[in-house]
Amino acid sequence: MNYFTGQAPFLVNYPSINYIREIIMKNVLTCLLLSGFLSVNAQKKVNVDQQMKLAVQQYKGMLDTLKDTKLFPQSTKPDGTMKTMESSWWCSGFFSGSLWYLNEYTKDKELQQAAEKWTVALEKEQYNTGTHDLGFMLYCSYGNGYRLTKNAAYKPILLQGAASLATRFHPEVGLIKSWNSFGKYNYPVIIDNMMNLEYLFWAAKVSGNKKYYDLSVTHADNTIKNHFRPDNSSYHVVLYDSSNGNVLAKKTAQGFTDESAWARGQAWGLYGYTVMYRETKDKKYLKKAMDIASFYMKHPNLPADKIAYWDFNAKDIPNVARDASASAIVASALLELAKYADKANSKAYYKFAEDVLVSLSSPAYFAATGNNHFILKHSTGHFLANSEVDTPIIYADYYYIEALLRYDRFNKKG
Ligand code: GLY
Repeated sequence: MNYFTGQAPFLVNYPSINYIREIIMKNVLTCLLLSGFLSVNAQKKVNVDQQMKLAVQQYKGMLDTLKDTKLFPQSTKPDGTMKTMESSWWCSGFFSGSLWYLNEYTKDKELQQAAEKWTVALEKEQYNTGTHDLGFMLYCSYGNGYRLTKNAAYKPILLQGAASLATRFHPEVGLIKSWNSFGKYNYPVIIDNMMNLEYLFWAAKVSGNKKYYDLSVTHADNTIKNHFRPDNSSYHVVLYDSSNGNVLAKKTAQGFTDESAWARGQAWGLYGYTVMYRETKDKKYLKKAMDIASFYMKHPNLPADKIAYWDFNAKDIPNVARDASASAIVASALLELAKYADKANSKAYYKFAEDVLVSLSSPAYFAATGNNHFILKHSTGHFLANSEVDTPIIYADYYYIEALLRYDRFNKKG
């Protein structure tokens, strides 16, 4: 007797062998899929969704405090209030750029409207030929806006901005001039300038004008030649003879000494040469980016949480200010470099970037509330000038959000 059916055994319908095989296969498949899913998720140490939600909360709070679009959020003053800037300052594009990135992740229309509003507030900078920072100002703002919306009004503004930037390239020197002067010198070029080239590559593609491509390559090649030390750290400022491009001196503006490794400068170089490889596929740029990464990642003065001191050779390490912005830039760059490097290095870059994001996403660096609604704490602008030391700074937020987006994409696509 079958106690469950009440039927005599010979009357029970036993499942066929094929049916049993099918059930086993289905269960095995489910287990395999589930274990794969769990292991992919177990590898993710940063909860992107949660960090993005908190970041949106902070930035919506910030939007509520801003009256008009004349002054852009920059950092926090020593008295605790927000420091703002005009559109001509080099950091003016990071706020709308961050709003575009947050909109990209969330698809939140309110963020898109705010990003549009703060982007058009930069419109007049397209004619600004007095700075090399148009890449930061216009490509982070209009550039992201155009990438995401294809808003036809943004294109001519971006192209005009690229033309303005290109006026600072003088063929007899072979580099884009950064500032108009530095002490007695009249042709300073800073490592930060590598960050403008991505904008010019975009302009070359969209306008069909190869000039932008060629001058970017020339600038990058001369920077490799003159800006780096044998250990692959970089000088901050190289001073050129404007008549023939000879190097007159190598100095620093924001670092500890002329021979020190200013943390954000190393980050700009790493990011810049990663972009150079993406845009040209020339292996010498990949090698340069990997050499810079190696200098940075293996430096004995890098703290355990991987958030750099403001300068690798700063006096009084470990009791000196950090620069969360340098670390956010490095995390973002490494998540791109990981796509181009060989397997072993790719893994190391991903892991390093993830460790940085874990630190930056912890309460030690990440502000879920307060902080004048900036997202990250503990960046350093210009230490020796006592300007923006150990404070939130807008570009740290921008590259942190960019790195989160890249981390998220990396984990989805592998
Ligand atoms: N481009 C200036 C800075 O990194 O502070």
